[in-house]
Amino acid sequence: MKERENFGSRTAVIMAMAGSAIGLGNIWRFPYLVGQDGGAAFILVYIAATLVLSLPIFFAESIIGRRSHANCRGAMERLAPGTKWRWLGLLAVFTPMFIVSYYGVVGGWSLEYFIQACSLKFVHTAPEDLTGTFGEFIARPWAPVAFHLLFLLVTVVIVAFGVRSGIERVSKAGLPVLFVLIVVLAIYSVSLPGAQKGVEYLLKPDWSKLTPTTCIDALGQSFFSLSLGVGIIITYSSYVSKEENLLVSGVGTAVSDLVFALLAGLAIMPAVFAAGIEPGSGPGLIFDTLPFIFAKMGGIGAAVAILFFFTVLFAALTSCMSLVEVGVAYLTEERHMSRGWSCALIFVLTGAAGTLCSLSFGPLSQVHLSGQGIFDFADSFASNVLMTLGGLLCVVFAGWQMKRSDVFDEFTNGGTKTLNVKCFRAAYFLIRYVAPLGVAVLMLTNLL
Ligand code: PFF
Repeated sequence: MKERENFGSRTAVIMAMAGSAIGLGNIWRFPYLVGQDGGAAFILVYIAATLVLSLPIFFAESIIGRRSHANCRGAMERLAPGTKWRWLGLLAVFTPMFIVSYYGVVGGWSLEYFIQACSLKFVHTAPEDLTGTFGEFIARPWAPVAFHLLFLLVTVVIVAFGVRSGIERVSKAGLPVLFVLIVVLAIYSVSLPGAQKGVEYLLKPDWSKLTPTTCIDALGQSFFSLSLGVGIIITYSSYVSKEENLLVSGVGTAVSDLVFALLAGLAIMPAVFAAGIEPGSGPGLIFDTLPFIFAKMGGIGAAVAILFFFTVLFAALTSCMSLVEVGVAYLTEERHMSRGWSCALIFVLTGAAGTLCSLSFGPLSQVHLSGQGIFDFADSFASNVLMTLGGLLCVVFAGWQMKRSDVFDEFTNGGTKTLNVKCFRAAYFLIRYVAPLGVAVLMLTNLL
């Protein structure tokens, strides 16, 4: 059998994992949630949620991946041969493929807006004339589909190059750039007249806003942001060498993800407040509100728009690469397909499904699934059911199916990492009891 690839270094592992974690969720959801749910008070709850729920699940997935050194399906076969756990393996391959279908559509929108920013559209158009153009763009039948397919093509081509030459290289080159850009944007945004209110919106603690609902928001956001429950951490960890420290890569990823989300908040909200606009979230914030603000900035708006949409595009790209890799690992190892053909197959399947999602804003807008358009249905089904179910099963697998001694061995590198040994009891307790309960609550509240 061909030898499996590994990431080249600890930095590479963290960069690739952080590349997956840092995505649209950090840019269009986190800043809004923080502002709505209590500023610094929410950030503290978010950190607590990461410690008791997300990191234990992250460790559970890392342990499964590195222990088995296999794709999600193969991991279940190696760690629990001949059992029903194979369904978890298949779920963990299916979910990311399902997600690529609509995540790729948003990637396509980012690509289109990046190109528009480069063509200086946002400075040459009167701000008022930009209102509603996003809705018109996504309702057009073919342009969004074409951009979506182009985005997907770039993603699969990078993944086709391999774990080291594709994913690792792009993440290592791109992530530092992403951080520099978001810092530059944050500095600019904070320095605008009237920005103070935006900074307060994000950072001023308001303890009265902390309710069970805001705590669930924090759990959900932290879970989604670390790309849990979708086989990504299992797959990426299967490329992590036995010498690496899983505690360090997990904490490193979570910290980079949070720092980026905070910087994204500082890049966006102060500018929104400086322009005297009510903050919002989701696609509307990035593709409607911000272009309007860029257009109002005059000449410098062109540069800011280009940097901003490049950041969005790249963040979406590295997340999408991680989703595709889960499918590629499965096809190459379990179905013995070549990497190139696996990428081609994933491109065709997710491209076709994504086309339906994209068309659901235009020609297929009349098609409804459980009362929602195709895109919205796919999004809510994935986040509310597939991801949480995947996360729950993974943490139960590591906590209850695997032997304690194996989990210990993997988490502490055979007892050689002192800090990991010290943290093990707490981590194992969280993996066995707290995290499963937390995701179960998240799942139920999402469904009800
Ligand atoms: N973690 C990414 C974000 O915050 O945008 C999103 C994401 C990517 C979630 C991939 C899930 C996933 F499978």
